[in-house]
Amino acid sequence: MRLLLLSTLFAPLVLTTPAVSADENEALITHRQGIYKIVSGHTNAIKSILFQNHPATDELEYHSQGILNAFSKLGQDYAPGSEEGKTRASSKIWEDMDGFRDAGKSAYEAAKALDDKVKFGDREGQIQAFKDLGASCKGCHKEYRKEK
Ligand code: HEC
Repeated sequence: MRLLLLSTLFAPLVLTTPAVSADENEALITHRQGIYKIVSGHTNAIKSILFQNHPATDELEYHSQGILNAFSKLGQDYAPGSEEGKTRASSKIWEDMDGFRDAGKSAYEAAKALDDKVKFGDREGQIQAFKDLGASCKGCHKEYRKEK
């Protein structure tokens, strides 16, 4: 199941798909930015619970699952041609698709680890897993997201 997810998750069809049209391009950008906002919403909620004592501890799993679900919807959002427009995606993504995909896989694995800790771990473990996930977000952004 997990392997299946990973292989479909970051399979951007680099060689097989022709460049997208301007309209399709805009849709891909809007979609992927929306997905990242969902991911970010869940991470902020988790942060409030783990670090600021928000009482919704029994909703941690909703959020850790939400991150995994959202990541799994990125699919083909980085098709060739979708680097133009109102996007902070760096052209490095299309120059180094393998590296970008690896960064995506690491983040997915980190989100999975957090979800495991939410289900089976203690708070210490959850905090560590959350920090690891944050590091994987930053790692990708540093390499593949342009400054504002
Ligand atoms: C594999 C690379 C990668 C990973 C991993 C990643 N991001 Fe991003 N993120 C990007 C790129 C590229 C953009 C810019 C997308 C665009 O503007 O088209 C982005 C944009 C964003 C945005 C701005 C969305 C907007 O409104 O424009 C947020 C917020 C964000 N990411 C949060 C996160 C969080 C939180 C994590 C980790 C849980 C994460 N990202 C993991 C590559 C990544």
